[in-house]
Amino acid sequence: VARVQSYVNVASGPSVTDFVVNQLKLPISSRALSHEITADAPLNKVIMNIHVTDESSARAAAIANAVAFRLGTVVQALESAKSGNRGSPVSLSVTKPAVPPGSATQPRPSLNLGLALLVGLILGVAGARLRDQYDDRVRSLEELEGAIRCPVLATLPRDPLSLRRRRSEPFERDWLPRRAFAQLQASLPYLDLDNPPRSICITSASRGEGKTYVALNLAFALARSGQPVCLLEANLRFPSIFALLKLPRKVGLTSMLTGHEQVERVAQPVREGLSVIAAGPVPPNPGAVFGSEHARLAISRTEDAFGYTVLDTAPLVTVQDAQVCTLASATILVIRRGRTRRRDLARVLEGLSQVGVRPAGAVLTMERRRIVLKRVRDAIEPPQAKGAAVAATSMTRAQA
Ligand SMILES: Nc1ncnc2c1ncn2[C@@H]1O[C@H](COP(=O)(O)OP(=O)(O)OP(=O)(O)O)[C@@H](O)[C@H]1O
Ligand SMILES: [Mg+2]
Repeated sequence: VARVQSYVNVASGPSVTDFVVNQLKLPISSRALSHEITADAPLNKVIMNIHVTDESSARAAAIANAVAFRLGTVVQALESAKSGNRGSPVSLSVTKPAVPPGSATQPRPSLNLGLALLVGLILGVAGARLRDQYDDRVRSLEELEGAIRCPVLATLPRDPLSLRRRRSEPFERDWLPRRAFAQLQASLPYLDLDNPPRSICITSASRGEGKTYVALNLAFALARSGQPVCLLEANLRFPSIFALLKLPRKVGLTSMLTGHEQVERVAQPVREGLSVIAAGPVPPNPGAVFGSEHARLAISRTEDAFGYTVLDTAPLVTVQDAQVCTLASATILVIRRGRTRRRDLARVLEGLSQVGVRPAGAVLTMERRRIVLKRVRDAIEPPQAKGAAVAATSMTRAQA
């Protein structure tokens, strides 16, 4: 029995494989063949199993049989050499010749498919977990509502003109943003019914989230509805309104702060009902400006001169940046769908609370048009009102 165990390795050794390759004229090397052969001997048995894996089932059976035959000869020779003339105590014979299996045992498509599905599922679940952990960009209104503690006042669509020109443009003829901004405008008095806001600070967590787009178009919408409006560039880091509206940049907010210029001299009329106060010469320490009493005075004078003042700000990166929001009566956060991160929102809310400001509302921008369309339609004709109308009609019919 012990000897049988010791001959297991001989089955895939060169003395066997060289012979089999020659005998069967195999198109592979003797070394390659040795990788196709495995042998084992169940413990305490005098039987040895020879396994061959090959791309052809018929060839696998032929190789197994040739290995068994050759192994018999090799073992006989080894045993005779050990025992001299006394004859070999061991002889090998084939008990069960190999026959080709009816079909290939490998590959097994259904097993592989099942495994692939399982691995795919595990990777998918792990990927979603990782995404939630590291990629916390706001992707929908529902996600936004879960991340802030103020109402979402409007959902704004992607504006093709602004996208194409790569800068915020006042939209003119597109009815969808017109409706969405009308909704935003209509929500303003409700922010504080007893004391409706006169100045509105438009801000966000990072650059390029659409603050200027919202401020510009809200000011245009208010002016269209007949309110005297001032759009004030309170972004002293990256002022852009003077360039968008092609205004001179020499006079503006900072000239009011340092030169004590009057509102009437710095506010530049742009269209009926709308004036713009540009940033003016940019100071070396833009962050510190809005904590000053001069800034407070400048904003309150502007509020007195117009029905509404809309402030376009720099992104709130430091607590000092949040100072500008203390000057206005309401702060609106702009959240850009697919870009604004929830952790940045939390940072902004924390920064605002440190200067004693609670945002009055939020705006989700760059939303898909079909979703904005649905929101706008729901706002015009709420779903429950539609249901009530249908119920009333069917009751009348039933009574008739
Ligand atoms: N609703 C929108 N639809 C399409 N494009 C938009 C929209 N809002 C903003 N954009 C585009 O995004 C870019 C950044 O917008 P915007 O300048 O208004 O952001 P911002 O928050 O004011 O940036 P910054 O922090 O630099 O002042 C612009 O190229 C603009 O065209
Ligand atoms: Mg801007």
